[in-house]
Amino acid sequence: MSDARGYFLTLEGVDGAGKSTHIEWLVHELRVRGVDVLSTREPGGTPVGEKLRALLLHEPMHLECETLLMFAARAEHVHTIIAPALERGTWVLCDRFTDATFAYQGGGRALGTDRIASLEAWLHPALQPDRTWLFDVPLAVARDRLNRTRDQDRFEREADTFFERTRAVYLDRARLDPARFLTIDATRSIEAIRNDLSEDLDLLVQRQSGHR
Ligand code: TMP
Repeated sequence: MSDARGYFLTLEGVDGAGKSTHIEWLVHELRVRGVDVLSTREPGGTPVGEKLRALLLHEPMHLECETLLMFAARAEHVHTIIAPALERGTWVLCDRFTDATFAYQGGGRALGTDRIASLEAWLHPALQPDRTWLFDVPLAVARDRLNRTRDQDRFEREADTFFERTRAVYLDRARLDPARFLTIDATRSIEAIRNDLSEDLDLLVQRQSGHR
């Protein structure tokens, strides 16, 4: 796969949607299909990004500071990890990307879309995921799963209305870009979810080999 640009795949969803359960499995399934893949996350993915993640998840801060730090971590991540990997033909599987900023800061914290769209246009004008898997669950399911987590972070401790606004933005974005998003009903069993993902991986691998 070294003669084609790698695909950029992202996982999204509200906290408690269960996306993390599938990351190692996705990496394995891609490798089984002969794909060279790098798995990473946001906020984080670089030494400076992981330091910013610790601040973002645990330190109270103003919304503008939060939004800018998300993009600061992202800029470092895009320039040093994501873009070079895609360029050399490696696929990148990223646990969250800019859709999360639109959903959490834009929706959950009600910043709206304009400022986030400006930062996106500045910091990664030419980079969008090729596929985004949106793990969707209603509030009650997310809460139930989160209640089993100890040491919840700043976002996981947010009010129900924050979850609802975040989820609504995710669903809107998925509706507006059905070619990129695959919305997954994540209330179902792990096996049912993996069947959907597996079919989608076959399609993506086939599509990319068509582009070589
Ligand atoms: P994680 O728990 O899925 O690793 O994500 C960390 C938290 O950061 C999660 O609650 C969502 C939040 N987040 C944002 O609020 N905005 C962003 O742009 C990103 C990438 C994550």
